[in-house]
Amino acid sequence: MSLLPLTETQREIQRLAREYTARELTPLAGERDRAQRFDRVMVEQMAELGFLGMLIPEQYDGLGLDAQSYLLALEEIAVGDATAAVTLSVHNSLPTQMILGFGNEAQRAHYLPPMARGEWLGAFALSEPEAGSDAASLRTQAVRDGDDWLLSGTKAWVSHGNEAQVILCMARTDTPDARRGSKGISTFILTPDLPGFHLTKKENKLGMRASPTLQIVLDNCRVPSDRLLGDEGKGLIYALGSLDHGRLGIAAQAIGIARAALEASVRYVGERKQFGKPIAEFQAIQFKIADMATRITAARTLLHAAAAAKARGEKITRYSSMAKLFASETAMWVTNEALQIHGGYGYVTDYPVERHLRDAKVTEIYEGTSEIQRIVIARETLAAAAAADGILPD
Ligand code: CAA
Repeated sequence: MSLLPLTETQREIQRLAREYTARELTPLAGERDRAQRFDRVMVEQMAELGFLGMLIPEQYDGLGLDAQSYLLALEEIAVGDATAAVTLSVHNSLPTQMILGFGNEAQRAHYLPPMARGEWLGAFALSEPEAGSDAASLRTQAVRDGDDWLLSGTKAWVSHGNEAQVILCMARTDTPDARRGSKGISTFILTPDLPGFHLTKKENKLGMRASPTLQIVLDNCRVPSDRLLGDEGKGLIYALGSLDHGRLGIAAQAIGIARAALEASVRYVGERKQFGKPIAEFQAIQFKIADMATRITAARTLLHAAAAAKARGEKITRYSSMAKLFASETAMWVTNEALQIHGGYGYVTDYPVERHLRDAKVTEIYEGTSEIQRIVIARETLAAAAAADGILPD
């Protein structure tokens, strides 16, 4: 039963992802987390199901699904293992969509089929040690050298950067004596075999421990000119536009984490007895369950309304930021409540809720912090109101 008006195909994708999650993801998620183990077999299984090419058109070997089907699948996957969901979200929302949207036909034909089949995993390299929220201040420099570009700089927080075969990297193509701000950034398609491409620091994280996060150092990395994506100087716009879509994926992931915590809590309150009865019979517990379920449903409804607007071809910058903001804060709140419901058992690794809480935190940080989402929402809301004599869009 769902509040969302889903089509038969969407229900089928949701069912497929749910069954796969229960069978393959949930049983090993705790072990992967403890071992900080990125599971290639899991990626191969998801590729077999077509999940690495969900949004890639069939002509490039993808499934060509709509955004809502993709988000439903992501939520299910995140219920079992949030790290599998971030792999899918980054790959499906950012590098593949950027190549599809802004690449030329030769680039699409070369990169998209193996990415759709899951043979090549895609990553996204925008942030740097000194440029996180302020993406436009990135410093990695690209300079022309004959037919090639030479890239130098450090990219940070690259999800599965050591597992990816295709990395979409934003770098400056303006010159230090003629800076062009946001118009001085371009996008390059990197592969790890390029001379001067080095994987350096692997982060030791609070959560999402089975999803490696890498620093990449580019040391005069020689990049052929046919690796420039789209127009020179439009790289930041491509990246921020793609993040509109990426943030929907992070929202779906956050909803999945919250749901995992709620489902664990529902099981626990039925089993755990105190004062002679299951704790599910206490109103203090019931109120928590009610609030957790309500917030999750509200987050999902907002997310799918944003995805439906995208399918209608509308600009969704404001709504994708709202969905990500609300879903990630919901995930943090719900996982914290779940831990409280579990009491001491929630604080130790016997139950999964401490992992859900650790995994939830980063959804408030990556692909734009909650503070950045609020900036985007405020800007867009003020602009929309100004354009409509103070009347806000519904
Ligand atoms: N879609 C398309 N274009 C957009 C856009 C959008 N959503 N948002 C902005 N732009 C365009 C603007 O129109 C502007 O273009 P012009 O220069 O032609 O006018 C240009 O991009 C610059 O925009 P702003 O002037 O608004 O830029 P700003 O410096 O004021 O900052 C910001 C905007 C919203 C703060 C932005 O920098 C931002 O979103 N920061 C957060 C970055 C982020 O999410 N990083 C996460 C990296 S990925 C990650 O987490 C790792 C991982 O692997 C998951």
